[in-house]
Amino acid sequence: MLAQASSCVGAFVVYLIIRTIYRLHFHPLSKIPGPKLAAATNGYEFYFNVIKRGKFIWEIERLHEIYGPIIRITPKEIHIKDSNYYEEIYASSSRKREKDGPYFQQFDMEGSGFVTVAAELHRERRAPLNKLFSKSATTDMLPILYDNLDKLCRHIKGAYESDRVIKLDAGFAGLTSDTIYGYFLGYRSGNLDSQDFNEHVRDGINALTRLCHVNFFFPIIQTIVGLFPLPVLKTLNPHIHALMEQKAHIRTQVVNALSGKQTKDGSALENVLNDGLSENLRGVDRLANEGMAIVSAGIETTGRALAVGFYQIISNKDIQTKLREELKSVIPTPQSRPAWDQLRQLPYLSSVILETLRLATGIAMRSPRVAPTETLIYGDHVIPPGTSMSQHNYFVLMDPEIFSEPHVFDPERWLRAATKGEHLERYLVTFSKGSRNCLGMNLAYAELYLTIATLVRQFDFTLHDTTWKDIAFARDFSVPYPEEGNTSLQVLVRNMIQE
Ligand code: HEM
Repeated sequence: MLAQASSCVGAFVVYLIIRTIYRLHFHPLSKIPGPKLAAATNGYEFYFNVIKRGKFIWEIERLHEIYGPIIRITPKEIHIKDSNYYEEIYASSSRKREKDGPYFQQFDMEGSGFVTVAAELHRERRAPLNKLFSKSATTDMLPILYDNLDKLCRHIKGAYESDRVIKLDAGFAGLTSDTIYGYFLGYRSGNLDSQDFNEHVRDGINALTRLCHVNFFFPIIQTIVGLFPLPVLKTLNPHIHALMEQKAHIRTQVVNALSGKQTKDGSALENVLNDGLSENLRGVDRLANEGMAIVSAGIETTGRALAVGFYQIISNKDIQTKLREELKSVIPTPQSRPAWDQLRQLPYLSSVILETLRLATGIAMRSPRVAPTETLIYGDHVIPPGTSMSQHNYFVLMDPEIFSEPHVFDPERWLRAATKGEHLERYLVTFSKGSRNCLGMNLAYAELYLTIATLVRQFDFTLHDTTWKDIAFARDFSVPYPEEGNTSLQVLVRNMIQE
């Protein structure tokens, strides 16, 4: 028995040695610069993302300083830090790009467009959704959004009257959550009806994101978690329980929609089904995962962007004053409802939103792509077809060659660039680029424009027990997290604007 065990160990050690020699000397990426350890083993990423919790991005930044703009960061993946090469990696549909399948397993959303590998299958899955999230569909989203904004404003007014601290980060998550649930599933999640915005709404998403690196290395964990009954999970881990409960809830909505049950106000999902969604796309599990992808992608991303934007606006009185003055031209009294079409035309508000998106980063993960048939060239390096390639959005958004003093919130940089005929928007990669870019960006823009305009026109805030450290991107758990805890923006309402 002992002899058998030791020969198994021996064989495994020999396998590891041969694999390491292959990876370092004979692998198609062996000429790409980078540390030998990262080329030899995924342990390098494991150390920075699992042990040090979401810190691989900063190690990648450090490695670029040593090895130059192209590096091998894992045995099979390269990272290129060059803003002008972004669109080569995240290319449009005219140049086939796939997602890196194993990387996206961490999200456990099999069948959703978000994790689909093949370009053709992704196109088939995404096409029916494009119409529902298009620019012209924004008008269908507005009634839900206005309703939710009214609720948020009532909370803020209540906090003003009782001189109470208000957690705007939770308010924004409540707003984005109620909006996407309402629009896509026709479900009233009612977070904005609760006094604390039902802060637990983010527990499920936080469980998903905070576990992403562990799930990436040990995808089996997700299968095991799925075997536990919900009441047992609740006692073992409330956050994972919240995630599984959220999944089960979305699944129920999907089952109802598939069986022809109509929600009170209708939903985008019902519209997709009624429009004759083809049979191969109507599986319950697939649609439930699609729903989960859409809902989870639509909550924390926009919620955090709003927190970033408001932190900056509250901290910069000049920006707030200038913005409010411009808003008065289309929102004559603080309580008037802003018209979406008019807001979009305002140059200063638009530049505040572009700058908010730039500093917000959007997603933190590197989201690798694969060119299945194309050979790419970067400098002297040949990137063979099938290579996993990435560039963190953060590095483009913070590139000092493109955005001078990148850490400064400077909305006017967009206006200055426009007068010089420069198109900085090309480098605003917060929603990614190409065929796999964000499905919900029109909804996100509507949420950002309307929320910033409404709140800035009505209220004066001061920060409470909040510094930039409570928001700034320090850890990559798919979306950006601060060094400690969750994104937090606490404020006091100093004044309600009268004119
Ligand atoms: C400021 C807010 C948002 C940001 C910064 C953002 C950012 C992104 C990014 C960077 C991607 C590409 C992910 C990848 O490369 O793997 C993406 C994809 C996606 N986003 Fe967003 N997003 C935002 C809001 C939303 C909203 C409101 C929705 C709701 C519908 C949404 C739904 C999705 C979906 C479904 C995908 C996957 C698309 C596909 O692969 O076909 N996002 N988002």
